Formats: sequence, structure tokens, C-alpha cells
Amino acid sequence: YSAAMREVHTKLEILDDEFQARHKRNPIHHMQSRMKSIQSMMEKLQRKQFAVSMDSAVENLHDIAGIRVICSYVQDVYTVASLLTNQDDVRLIEVRDYIKQPKANGYRSLHLIVEVPVFLQEGRITVPVEVQLRTIAMDFWASLEHSMRYKADAVIPEDISQELQQVGADIAVLDQRMQALHDRIEKLYQSSNT
Ligand code: GTP
Ligand code: MG
Repeated sequence: YSAAMREVHTKLEILDDEFQARHKRNPIHHMQSRMKSIQSMMEKLQRKQFAVSMDSAVENLHDIAGIRVICSYVQDVYTVASLLTNQDDVRLIEVRDYIKQPKANGYRSLHLIVEVPVFLQEGRITVPVEVQLRTIAMDFWASLEHSMRYKADAVIPEDISQELQQVGADIAVLDQRMQALHDRIEKLYQSSNT
């Protein structure tokens, strides 16, 4: 899993570098990788009523290796996702678009499960990696919501959760406005270069 995670991380770095060389900017603002701890694998297996064993984890958990990709603009999220999944050694297993369809609580991100090959002494295996792509603004919301939920012991009072959901919607509007500003700047820059 660690090898697969590094592989996907490197693929994303290379895409970001190439984009920088071509377009003079980075679509990826930063990335965070994490391996699920044994503790949280066991918790998740129990919560989802699967057998609690290594085999069951391999079979049922597709987010043992995870990479969060924080992008500058909304369009970058989709550009990076398609550049990654178009690579011929990357197999797309699942897409959940919580940007087009946000969760009821206001959570927004694009989630992919991809499978990549890892070459071991005994040969090639394929390993799933969860890739969460989101903008800086979506990450701001998700990080703070996560810590509030942790503080509140998983249950956030209704009025507060409604307000959080509204903040998520406001952030989506800001993301669109920043995207529009960026597009205008790009246009100016393109026309000044022709
Ligand atoms: P999990 O059992 O949590 O993995 O959910 P799932 O397998 O149904 O997948 P889902 O795509 O809903 O969520 C996977 C991951 O996305 C979570 O482990 C979080 O990292 C993130 N995520 C999903 N929903 C939320 C949310 O409401 N708030 C925050 N902060 N993160 C979320
Ligand atoms: Mg999951």
C-alpha cells in the first residue's frame, strides 16, 4: 500500500511539474498522503459489519492508502483527475463526485479509487489507492468541519450543522468566482502573447 501510495504521489508530482512547464502555474497546491492505521481499519470493518481480519481489510477497504490533492481552482480538480486516470497503468475503480453532488452536510470533494501496479519480487500486484481531490476552499471547510465533529463527539446540533452546510454553499460560490477571475487573467495573458 505504501508503494502504491508513493507511486500515485509521484505520478501527480510529475503531472504538476509538466503542467508548470507548459502553463507556468501549478494546478496542485499541495498534497497529503496517509496510511490507514490498523486501529481505524478495525473500526471501519466493524462499523461496516465486515469480518475483522487482514484478508477482509484487503478485500473490503479501498482507502488503506490515501492521497489528498488540494488544487488551486475547481477546474484543476477535474483536469488533474482526468490526467491521472487516463494513464494506461491506472485503473479507475470508483468515482464519487461530491462537488457536483455535495453531501447533505455540505462536504465537497472529488473521490477516486484507482488501482496501480506494484512490482514485487514474486511479480506484479495491483493495489487500490483513494484519491481525494478538492480546492483549497473545500479543504478549509472539510478540515474545520472534521475537527468540529471531533470536538462535538460526532453529533453536531442541528442549527450548527445547517450553518455549516450554508458555509459550504458560500464557499462553492467563492470557488466559482475565483475560477472566473482566473479565467479572465488567462484570457488576457493569452491575447497578450499572440
Ligand atoms: P468512510 O467510511 O468514511 O470511508 O466513507 P465511505 O467509504 O462511504 O466513503 P466517502 O467517500 O463517503 O468518504 C471517504 C472519506 O472522505 C472519509 O474518510 C473522509 O476523509 C472524507 N469525507 C467524507 N465525508 C466527509 C465529511 O462529511 N466531512 C469531512 N471532513 N470529510 C469527509
Ligand atoms: Mg471510503
